Amino acid sequence: MHNARMSHAQRAQTPGNMCFVQAYAKINLTLDVLGRRADGYHALATVMQTIDLHDTICLTVTDDDRVQVICTTPALSNDENLAARAATLLRQRLALTQGVRIELHKRIPVAAGLGGGSSNAAAILLALQQWWRLPLSPVDLLNMAASLGSDVPFFLTGGLALCEGRGEQVTRLAPYWPEAMRWLLLLKPAIGIATAEVFRSLPASDYTDGTYSREVCSALNAGTMPRAEYLHNCLERSVLECYPEVAQAREDLLRAGASIVRLSGSGPTLFALFPELARATQVQQELQSQGYEVYLSRATHSHAGSVSFF
Ligand code: C5P
Repeated sequence: MHNARMSHAQRAQTPGNMCFVQAYAKINLTLDVLGRRADGYHALATVMQTIDLHDTICLTVTDDDRVQVICTTPALSNDENLAARAATLLRQRLALTQGVRIELHKRIPVAAGLGGGSSNAAAILLALQQWWRLPLSPVDLLNMAASLGSDVPFFLTGGLALCEGRGEQVTRLAPYWPEAMRWLLLLKPAIGIATAEVFRSLPASDYTDGTYSREVCSALNAGTMPRAEYLHNCLERSVLECYPEVAQAREDLLRAGASIVRLSGSGPTLFALFPELARATQVQQELQSQGYEVYLSRATHSHAGSVSFF
């Protein structure tokens, strides 16, 4: 079986030696932490949406039996990179000997709460599966994705979804995005935050029962704007308390004219929602003049399934 798979993979590369795939970032509209699980992870309910800020990945077949990553962020050019781990996992599972070079044009800020590493991993799984026509079922892909990280399964489909369990149980929601949230500003304070640390120090008093995610799902399903107070992230209070840079950035966003500002994932990136481009741009320029890293973005249905072969 393995030999058949391997020769199949090697034949399938003949139309071209190179492929490109885009890996999109996400924001969390809600993040309910329900409690701590026996395995050390936390039980979650979170509504996530992919956004058009993306990394670009170029895959090239190589003659050697290895996975190599070259990233525009030099600190990520190593085997621990989640993109490299995804390719290695796939090669191990199917006993493939085909070498591959991964060139990663990083635009999504790193350790920022935007899911960049997880999205890269999902993009690699999807791209290699399509490019090499690998015999993997959706369940195989899902299991591999979940073993790489809690957010990776979400990025296999992207769009709008409710993610439960430790994040790996993904229910896609009908695409809907309120006009009041048409434009997004992402402000990335100049620090990185380790997700594990945020979860470790989270007091039980910040846990919720999933109400926020349920309310936001039903509002979006009904084609309406969720009430602002339902856009709740259980990690936000403690992140604002522990990281003054994030609290300051939030104040500056509000002072510059944003009205709805939330933390994405475990941060430190904050997102603000705007109905009008002109207003969003004005706030972006004001914050950039203060030295902040700010991105203008929007929700997208695109996901890593769209691969270009050459
Ligand atoms: O799954 P992933 O490796 O992305 O998670 C990073 C860390 O975040 C975990 O090691 C864990 O400490 C924490 N985490 C958690 N509960 C989750 C997801 C992540 O405690 N549902």
